[in-house]
Amino acid sequence: MNNFRVFSLFVYVFLLFLPPIASLTVQAFTGTYGINYGRIADNIPSPDEVVTLLRAAKIKNVRIYDAEHSVLKAFSGTGLELVVGLPNGLLKDMSANADHAMEWVKENVQAFLPETHICGIAVGNEVLGGSDYELWGALLGAVKNIYNAVKKLNLDDVVQITTAHSQAVFSNSYPPSSCTFRDNVVQYMKPLLEFFAQVGSPFCLNAYPFLAYMSDPENIDINYALFKSTQGIYDPKTDLHYDNMLDAQIDAAYAALENAGYKKMEVVVTETGWASRGDENESAATVNNARTYNYNLRKRLAKKKGTPLRPKNVVKAYIFAAFNEDLKPGATSERNFGLFKADGTIAYDIGFHGLDSSSAKSLLLYLKDSRSRYWFQFRSLFLPISVATLLLLLR
Ligand SMILES: *[C@@H]1O[C@H](CO)[C@@H](O)[C@H](O)[C@H]1NC(C)=O
Repeated sequence: MNNFRVFSLFVYVFLLFLPPIASLTVQAFTGTYGINYGRIADNIPSPDEVVTLLRAAKIKNVRIYDAEHSVLKAFSGTGLELVVGLPNGLLKDMSANADHAMEWVKENVQAFLPETHICGIAVGNEVLGGSDYELWGALLGAVKNIYNAVKKLNLDDVVQITTAHSQAVFSNSYPPSSCTFRDNVVQYMKPLLEFFAQVGSPFCLNAYPFLAYMSDPENIDINYALFKSTQGIYDPKTDLHYDNMLDAQIDAAYAALENAGYKKMEVVVTETGWASRGDENESAATVNNARTYNYNLRKRLAKKKGTPLRPKNVVKAYIFAAFNEDLKPGATSERNFGLFKADGTIAYDIGFHGLDSSSAKSLLLYLKDSRSRYWFQFRSLFLPISVATLLLLLR
């Protein structure tokens, strides 16, 4: 009896220190709201300050477009879930050389685990349908080599491999059910989908009602793109009604996947957003519209609901983006997608608080302090419990 109690206590203490049982497939997203932390700027806050900002906003899911080590270090011990990016410029090398893929994963992912929660690697961004045709052929090889490296390192139940697609991979997205992959994309897309289906990865979609509206302002009601109340659209083939464009864009992707034979694959929105400033011919890019889109999007995601076509697949999205990025080339809108201005203050109010110099510093100190205090408490508990267990066992 006594021995049994000692034994069960031991088991109990042992279980207490085990990590929670991981689910079968990688769970790379917590809740429904995430953010892209683009850094093509010379004036944005430091990675440590960004961590403070994101934690204050309670944003847990973050994507970066590379694997910058100063960012990976700043995210260490924060509990934030981070997807790192393998830039397009490395795809050909990673595709041709499995050993380089292994080195990349070791140096940029494995070295930072588990303190930094790297939960995914986005291999390339908007490759298929994009202008660099040579990359189309390198994408699958790079995806496979990166996946194989992750698997060899036994990280495949922690780190999910994906690649994000733009709307350029689709033809006919209206009505949503008619959507298919573009003819010249199909031969690259199908083997990629086959591989992702095998390893349980989702289809990652960069979806911008902002761009769709700007490409056809005569025929699209801006209110429909902004989640405001409108008649919406009706899809006669599925008999489904859409009251906002983002849901329709996601279901168009689901329809293309179904038409290609991948009905079960989940769609995750890896980018969506609305610019708050633009050139003269980008008149939809206003602070007011950006606020409306991002405020309503936040409400939409908070409902934790699926889309009309896939009501059980709760919509998850990463907002583009954390900051205005002053060094981005192209149209003025490109540099003005941030929820936050470069100095960390809010670009417009959708319920998040920005950094302001004094309160940000005290919050930063507080968080650092509580981080180390938590660890200290944990350690100070661990020793007496271990000693007690040992004493009980030795009795
Ligand atoms: C705005 O004008 C520029 C320069 O002519 C052009 O490249 C761009 O595609 C235009 N944007 C839109 C949304 O029409």
